Amino acid sequence: FQPKLLRGKRVLITAGATFERIDAVRGITNTSSGKMGFAVARAAAEAGAEVTLVAGDTVLPTPADCQRINVKSAQQMLEAVEQHVPVSDIFISVAAVADYHVVNPSEHKIKKDAVTMTLELAANPDILARVASRADAPFCVGFAAESEKLLEHAEAKRLRKHLPLLVANLVQQAMGADDNEVILLDDAGQHKLVRAPKLDIARQLIAHIASLYQRSTKQ
Ligand code: PMT
Repeated sequence: FQPKLLRGKRVLITAGATFERIDAVRGITNTSSGKMGFAVARAAAEAGAEVTLVAGDTVLPTPADCQRINVKSAQQMLEAVEQHVPVSDIFISVAAVADYHVVNPSEHKIKKDAVTMTLELAANPDILARVASRADAPFCVGFAAESEKLLEHAEAKRLRKHLPLLVANLVQQAMGADDNEVILLDDAGQHKLVRAPKLDIARQLIAHIASLYQRSTKQ
């Protein structure tokens, strides 16, 4: 049983990996499966929210009662997110967004006639940072996947992006796995969620977000 903690609230969620094209058949991506973000979407819908799920490359089925928008690149994810931000109360950024894109992707398959080749990369927009810095920003929740110094790096990200809540997890434990173990970082400190299936973690996270969100709107 999940109490309807987010009844009537509009929740925007990104999930999965983005894909940056190199040529007609190749690209740059990462090993995010989308499982964590889809679990968060399902938990938010169970809690009564109207959920819009902006999904990168993943074959996962759409969770019940969620509106899904499929995107490929970080730029497409940014555009889908920016379109929905003005009508969202909460934004949860679970996606593993590629930090760079290829400057001149080739329309055709690149032939392997050279021994070495160089790709010119340019930085992608930081979707979460952009949303969090808007005057009409919804309540923003970030994730941080770190391979070392988890708390130090995650708290630095939370402060840099001005987030009321950030979910810290270790890449080695989280990426692609069915279970996860996370630490919630907010202004009150740290709160550990012990290893459990991603849906259990997502339900606990949604309860935490609902309580912080309620407090933030009462001020
Ligand atoms: O998909 P799974 O296999 O289930 O794995 C889940 C997960 C490990 C991908 C997930 O739990 C997670 O940690 N997601 C964040 C991944 C990440 O690498 O974040 P980051 O440290 O690069 O970025 C920090 C935050 O900024 C994230 O909320 C991210 O969505 C956001 N971001 C980052 C870069 C960018 N260009 N735009 C963004 O919005």
